[in-house]
Amino acid sequence: EKVILAYSGGLDTSTILKWLQNEFDYEVIAVCCDAGQKEDFDAVKEKALATGASKAIVLDIKEEFITDYIYPTLKAGAIYEDDYLLGTSMARPLMAKKLVEVAEQEGAFIIAHGCTGKGNDQVRFETTINALNPAIKVIAPWRMTDKWTFQSREDLIEYAHENNIPISQTTKKIYSRDENIWHISHEGGELESPWNEHLPSIHVLSKTPEDAPDKATYVTVSFEQGVPVALDGEKMDPISLLTKLNQLGSENGVGTIDIIENRLVGMKSRGVYETPGGTILYNAHRDLEKLILDRDTMQYKKIVSQKFSELVYDGLWFTPLRQAISAFVDETQKYVTGDVKMKLYKGTAYPVASKSPYSLYSEEFATFGADEVYDQHDAEGFIHLFALPLKIRAIQKQSLEGV
Ligand code: ARG
Ligand code: SIN
Repeated sequence: EKVILAYSGGLDTSTILKWLQNEFDYEVIAVCCDAGQKEDFDAVKEKALATGASKAIVLDIKEEFITDYIYPTLKAGAIYEDDYLLGTSMARPLMAKKLVEVAEQEGAFIIAHGCTGKGNDQVRFETTINALNPAIKVIAPWRMTDKWTFQSREDLIEYAHENNIPISQTTKKIYSRDENIWHISHEGGELESPWNEHLPSIHVLSKTPEDAPDKATYVTVSFEQGVPVALDGEKMDPISLLTKLNQLGSENGVGTIDIIENRLVGMKSRGVYETPGGTILYNAHRDLEKLILDRDTMQYKKIVSQKFSELVYDGLWFTPLRQAISAFVDETQKYVTGDVKMKLYKGTAYPVASKSPYSLYSEEFATFGADEVYDQHDAEGFIHLFALPLKIRAIQKQSLEGV
């Protein structure tokens, strides 16, 4: 029987690969998704085959990740618990979708993954698999505590040696990390005590603000219907655009957060996230919306953003509600077209100028002066009615208290 394994090339999934063969005699097809993590994918492939996979498949999912997962989330302005730009959360449904597709092509009915039983990722993988192909069963070795008896990294290394699993670095791994073209997450190590400040050496993608240059960098981001399309006037494909913004953001120490978050499975966890380019995009997009969206739409969209972030975090990408909210969001983005000039400076990325052919901001209306569109006499009647409930209340209070 065939199993599709979500394979990264690391110690955990290499051990799982061999273990699936040893314990259950499964034929294992290893699938590795290239979401933009820095990795030698040829080496990953070779390693999977050397560990006993019958097939090793590397899928480049970068572009689809950006256009079909990151952009809808960016347009929604979704930020989990006001901080987290959802880098890992958005990637999981796409990876799970790819695993299901491979399973269908290969005639397999089992997917195995290396997520622990304590995290969000297991949920995201499995909700997606259930939504896309309910005939597929899941094996999650870390949850099978009767059969999967490994307790520590040392146990895995020992098993690897006994089973001739090629392992590249046996050096002590401090953090649990997840990287893609949008972000890198860090959990564990000194972060486990919330009273520890994270070490500067935790940084992988970006400089610390302290190490960033003392001089500001400017970049102008152009959007079309809420989607970034050009930098400094130059049209770019999604991968090049995000790569360039990552480089500018990381040089300037932009986009690192250190937070406590509520996991779906009930516990709190601490994480450091580096999202250099993504932070620039979020801040620029939000600024452009301020120029274009009317007040009611902006306020209503904020409510919807919050829900969207929870759906993404909770692994509910492939659901009617997420799709319905995306349809609403797309409607709001029809005129979110224009340019935002961003200033990057020592860990910050903030908008300093913006323009759009659909801007609702009008210098004439906003500045004082006689005008046909805004007649100041109208304000008087408006205020009377606006304040009417306050007035009625005050009159009633006076009559009751007999003043
Ligand atoms: N806490 C973040 C999230 O739930 C990051 C998870 C990182 N995953 C990992 N396998 N290291 O989205
Ligand atoms: C894991 O536990 O597998 C990683 C962390 C998470 O999923 O939240």
